[in-house]
Amino acid sequence: MASLYLWIKALHVIAVIAWMAGMLYLPRLFVYHCEAAPGSKQSETFKVMERRLLRAIINPAMVATWVLGLWLVWESGAYRAGWFHAKFALVLVLSGLHGFFVRCVRDFAADRNRRTQKLYRIINEVPTVLMIGIVILAVVKPF
Ligand code: HEM
Repeated sequence: MASLYLWIKALHVIAVIAWMAGMLYLPRLFVYHCEAAPGSKQSETFKVMERRLLRAIINPAMVATWVLGLWLVWESGAYRAGWFHAKFALVLVLSGLHGFFVRCVRDFAADRNRRTQKLYRIINEVPTVLMIGIVILAVVKPF
């Protein structure tokens, strides 16, 4: 059973990397997209990039991270540990942010984005901060 656990954990980390790659890149695209006039060729290209990134990478990677992560919690009994409670809270925030990004992609697709470039620049940093916290909690398990 130990080796199955380690295989699932490896797959969990791979899924996490794919999810985070998308979560770090997508708000960067929003920052550039703000500079493109609605209806322009550039804006249409950003729409395709955002939709593909979300559907082909971010959404499936998030589902895989959750499914594999929940299996690990069940198998290891981590649901009793303090570090896991803190990690889980940060993961919920990350998942909420994912939901917000889905809305942003829809708004850009319909040419009705009203959020400022400055807001996207700030939001762009949030996944990084969450990821640092989550990885430290999962690896160091400080409490
Ligand atoms: C979606 C919900 C998630 C759940 C339920 C979950 C749960 C878990 C569990 C139970 C472990 C096993 C810990 C161990 O065996 O020591 C683990 C490992 C790990 N998780 Fe998650 N996780 C989730 C999301 C994430 C996210 C979003 C990240 C990073 C941004 C992450 C990063 C890691 C890392 C790096 C490990 C390996 C830790 C180690 O072996 O030292 N997880 N996860």
